[in-house]
Order: sequence, then structure tokens, then C-alpha cells
Amino acid sequence: MHRRTIGSSVLLFLLYALGSGASLAAAEVPGVPGAMPSAMDERVRACTSCHGVQGQGLNNDYFPRIAGKPADYLFNQLTAFRDGGRTYPPMGYLLAFLPDDYLRKISQYFADLQPPYPEADHGNVSPEVLAAGERLVRHGDPARKIPACIACHGARMTGTQPGIPGLLGLHASYIAGQMGTWRS
Ligand code: HEC
Ligand code: HEC
Repeated sequence: MHRRTIGSSVLLFLLYALGSGASLAAAEVPGVPGAMPSAMDERVRACTSCHGVQGQGLNNDYFPRIAGKPADYLFNQLTAFRDGGRTYPPMGYLLAFLPDDYLRKISQYFADLQPPYPEADHGNVSPEVLAAGERLVRHGDPARKIPACIACHGARMTGTQPGIPGLLGLHASYIAGQMGTWRS
């Protein structure tokens, strides 16, 4: 028996739940209405333990909302986690052996979910910082050649097809983390 440093019984369960891609086809038996959605509900339990039952993200935490983001965007992220373009070991490990067509199904599943957005999370920032942030989001800063975030992420920041993710419902710490990763 191998013991992997990261392996907890939870992770092993998740791997088990996700790993048996072969039985996905069996779940799609024609004439069994609803078999596919419930099979996917089961299979993505590995994901929803961190991302919320509906992919809405978890409160007070770093785990991002994935529901309702464009399927192409989600697929690109999943292949990046799998192939090493984006690094978060617990997910890379989960996705390591999953084929593209299965990742497409998972992406479509979360893209189709539309759980309600959480209350805005204003954290501890001062009104000045909040106002400066809102200016950048809505108008950018032409003097510094910073475009408005809404120019790409949509007027309500819910994302735009085919590949731009919504920012609404993401935690401030997660957004800051992503921007820090790009900068470095
Ligand atoms: C152990 C907790 C955990 C598990 C399990 C997990 N994720 Fe994640 N997921 C995260 C975290 C944390 C991030 C953000 C990583 C980073 O900093 O880039 C993330 C990022 C993502 C992203 C990118 C989000 C974005 O908006 O760019 C997608 C898509 C995603 N996860 C889908 C999944 C799917 C599908 C599964 C199941 C196969 C899964 N995750 C399992 C914690 C988890
Ligand atoms: C020119 C278009 C454009 C502008 C302007 C833009 N973004 Fe983005 N943003 C993107 C694209 C495209 C992605 C997806 C990148 C990818 O596929 O990994 C993205 C991804 C992100 C993500 C990761 C989201 C996630 O779900 O993980 C964050 C956070 C983000 N942008 C924040 C911002 C902020 C804040 C601003 C304004 C200061 C901004 N963006 C302006 C195009 C843009």
C-alpha cells in the first residue's frame, strides 16, 4: 500500500468517486430519464466539498465560485490544473487522470448552474479604498492605461461568453490572490 503525503481518506474517496470514468457511459443509458444529472451530482461531490453544492463557493473562505462561469473558461482552468499551467495540488491530484471529454462534461455541469449570489463582502477596507476600487472596476484609470474591469467582465461582472469568468461572488482574498499570481 502506498501512502501519499497528501492522501486523506476524504481525498481517497474523492479519487474513487471521480476516477471511474468508465461507468459514466453506463449512467447515460437511454430511456432512463434523469440518470445522467444524478450521476453527475454524485461524481462532482469531490468538487462540491470545496466549491459548494451548487458551485457557489464557500463562505469566509478562499474557495472560489465556479457556478455559471462559461464552460470554455472552466474547461481551460481544469486542463491547466491537470497539466500544470495552474497549480493547486489537491485539484491537480484529483484531475490527474481525467480525460478531456470528462472535463468538458464537468465544465458544462457547473456552467449550467445558477445559484444565487452571496451578499457583498466588504471586509475591513476603508470607504476610500472601496471607492478607489469601484472607480477602477467601472472606469479604469486611463492615465495609467488600466481598462475598466467591466469592459471585459460584463457590466454586472457576471462574465461574458465564451471565455471571460464572472467576478461577482468571488472572495476578495481570492481575487487578490489571482492578481498576485499573474504579477509574479
Ligand atoms: C480541496 C479543495 C478543492 C477541491 C476538492 C476542488 N477544488 Fe477547485 N479550487 C479550489 C481552490 C482553492 C481553487 C483556487 C486555486 C487557485 O488559487 O488558483 C480552485 C479553483 C478551481 C477552478 C478555477 C476557478 C476560476 O474561477 O478560475 C475551477 C474551475 C475548479 N476549481 C473546479 C473544480 C472541480 C471541477 C473540482 C472537482 C473535480 C474541484 N475544483 C475540486 C479548491 C478545490
Ligand atoms: C481586456 C479584458 C479584461 C479586462 C479589462 C479585465 N479582465 Fe480579468 N480576466 C480577463 C480574462 C480573459 C480572464 C480569464 C483568463 C483565463 O482564461 O485564465 C480574466 C480573469 C480574471 C480573474 C480570475 C477569475 C477567476 O474566476 O479565477 C480575476 C480575479 C480578474 N480577471 C480580475 C480582473 C479585475 C479586477 C480587472 C480590472 C482591474 C480585470 N480583471 C480586467 C479579461 C479581462
